[in-house]
Amino acid sequence: MGDSVASVDSPGRTTDVDFALVGHQESWRAAADVLGVLRGPERTPLPDDEIRDILPWIPPRAVCHVDVGSIAGAKARGLYIDSFISPDRLEADYIRENIARVRAAAACAIRAGAKIVSLGGFSSILIEGNFDQLPERHETVFTTGNTLTVGFIVQGIEKMCALEGRDLRRSTLLIVGATGDVGSGCARCLAPLVRRVLLSARNVDRLRRLAAELEADGVEVEVATPLQQFSAQADIVICAASLASPSLLLGRIAPDAIVCDAGYPKNLSPNAEIPGARVFFGGLGQITGGLRFTPDFHGVLNRHPFPDVVQGCLLEGMALALERRFEPFSQGRGFITQERVDEIEAIAARHGIRLAPLYNADGPLWPAQATIGSALGSRESASISSTDFTG
Ligand SMILES: NC(=O)c1ccc[n+]([C@@H]2O[C@H](COP(=O)([O-])OP(=O)(O)OC[C@H]3O[C@@H](n4cnc5c(N)ncnc54)[C@H](OP(=O)(O)O)[C@@H]3O)[C@@H](O)[C@H]2O)c1
Repeated sequence: MGDSVASVDSPGRTTDVDFALVGHQESWRAAADVLGVLRGPERTPLPDDEIRDILPWIPPRAVCHVDVGSIAGAKARGLYIDSFISPDRLEADYIRENIARVRAAAACAIRAGAKIVSLGGFSSILIEGNFDQLPERHETVFTTGNTLTVGFIVQGIEKMCALEGRDLRRSTLLIVGATGDVGSGCARCLAPLVRRVLLSARNVDRLRRLAAELEADGVEVEVATPLQQFSAQADIVICAASLASPSLLLGRIAPDAIVCDAGYPKNLSPNAEIPGARVFFGGLGQITGGLRFTPDFHGVLNRHPFPDVVQGCLLEGMALALERRFEPFSQGRGFITQERVDEIEAIAARHGIRLAPLYNADGPLWPAQATIGSALGSRESASISSTDFTG
């Protein structure tokens, strides 16, 4: 496989790589599309069974350059490095193999001289406590990007409530994956704004510790592992569990609940029976100062119904690079606070990185807003690519 997939010119140690984004594909369709671009349009697409056979043999590598612009005039240059973790190998059984892949991807970013690396999806495991797994770092710093992700999840919930005419202060909030870095950050930011909080994950001791922290601030909290055990129905749900595939069946929630699926891979099972719920994909932001992939991976790496939408975790590294703040903004697990969220949101906003228009598997949630958003996005992108990124 090695020579049938081209890679970006093996970047040597240079000083012009501001950031690196480490990611992996969420589905076989996405993986096939990435391979299609790498192989080039002149080659016949590989059949699905061949893609499943070869993907586990592709070593982590840089697949494209990424140029990002700021509405304040700054620019930053980076690399997208795919760890080529197979979409069906995210279970615990493959953890050693996957950590080795993320380590290799991180080493690739360090060799390229990236000043900051955002670790997307599963890759964040490398700095959510497993610091001993990080390769020798030189000047490169790492961030999980989870603080900006929390910011966009919370903004999404607030926007949904405003658009649906719901009063956040009267709501019961359920967080699935509540003790994780993203889940606990959302809990800290939203708990003071709602009537009651329901926290769910598998480890009850960790749930109780988080509940005690929130209760000390006067929040009404209930914890449970099986979702059916909660005494109340949730009006607002955040799904932020690390699941290997979309397998979450929510069960008993309010019939018209607002549900934010922030998982990567997605948490919600297609079989979840929540017909009246308003579901949206959370944690996503939109770049309005220009984004370019070379070779052109637009719509392949960022598969969203709006232009220049990217996961919050990857956007955090880009925002910090535009700000020239090369620091490990989000590291460890359980340190995300409202103050840190405010800080990274202000940095992102200064460079035109804002909450993405809301959508779910069926498409944009508000068609009118989608049209305006798309038109504005493409107009801005077009003018930016022809002015800021030429030459
Ligand atoms: N949208 C974005 O831009 C974005 C950005 C960053 C992260 N993410 C995604 O957000 C999710 C959480 O990330 P994280 O960094 O917070 O992960 P994390 O720190 O590992 O936390 C995972 C949480 O999920 C819980 N969990 C794991 N398996 C579960 C199961 N089977 N049922 C219920 N709970 C379960 C864990 O607790 P127990 O082990 O006790 O169950 C923990 O509370 C991941 O899917 C990640 O890829 C998305």
